[in-house]
Amino acid sequence: MNESVNASCVLIGVGGHAVVLLEALLAADRAVPAIGLDGDAELHGTVQQGVRIVGGDDMLPEMPRLGITHFVLGVGTGSDTATRRRLFENARAAGLNPLDVRHPSSLCSPSAELGPGIQLLARGVVNAQAELGESVLVNTAAIVEHHCVVEDHVHLATGAILCGGATVRSGALIGAGAIIKHGVVVGRNAVVGAGAVVIDDVADDAVVAGIPARRIERSR
Ligand SMILES: CC(C)(COP(=O)(O)OP(=O)(O)OC[C@H]1O[C@@H](n2cnc3c(N)ncnc32)[C@H](O)[C@@H]1OP(=O)(O)O)[C@@H](O)C(=O)NCCC(=O)NCCS
Repeated sequence: MNESVNASCVLIGVGGHAVVLLEALLAADRAVPAIGLDGDAELHGTVQQGVRIVGGDDMLPEMPRLGITHFVLGVGTGSDTATRRRLFENARAAGLNPLDVRHPSSLCSPSAELGPGIQLLARGVVNAQAELGESVLVNTAAIVEHHCVVEDHVHLATGAILCGGATVRSGALIGAGAIIKHGVVVGRNAVVGAGAVVIDDVADDAVVAGIPARRIERSR
């Protein structure tokens, strides 16, 4: 494996998801970011997974002056995708470009279209003529079947399956192991609970769970 450092790239967030990303970069024989930013002040000045943490994400505007041209989003998704979207947009506003991360064990059809900042992790699959927007996270072993449309900032969690022709609107979170039936549309910023089977369209901002998936009220 190539353990060299990419001096022009910053890692944003150094939690569990970041570790997975760094290992995906190394598995693909690519260099890891030289520096990182994280909201936890106790990490500032430390080295995490070989990445030197120089401060919080409020430092993003200073990155170009340090010779940084690219970023990788190291934050995953807790209960929604808002943090990933905010950090991505802030990094773009600072003039940085997203680095694509594709694990060598992932599969992507040559007829699929991937937007900038794609994170296609181990054993993730993107099948024929699927269209993915910017900063889409296809997590470990998630599957995007043929002719699906996946808009910006969507997170397909581990093992989620989008059957053929499904659409997932911007910012939605599809929970681990969930299945979205062919042709179904999941609305903007909607959340599909882990293990759900979604057989009908999901409204914008709705939270659904269960088999078949039904709308639920969140605890917060
Ligand atoms: C659906 C989800 C967002 C709800 O979270 P929440 O707002 O904290 O909701 P709560 O845990 O308070 O649960 C609310 C109700 O829904 C039920 N529920 C929660 N998640 C459920 C799920 N995945 N399937 C079925 N029922 C679920 C709870 O049992 C509870 O029912 P009750 O009111 O009868 O007691 C969350 O449970 C979930 O599944 N998130 C996806 C996590 C994931 O896969 N992340 C990816 C990381 S890689």
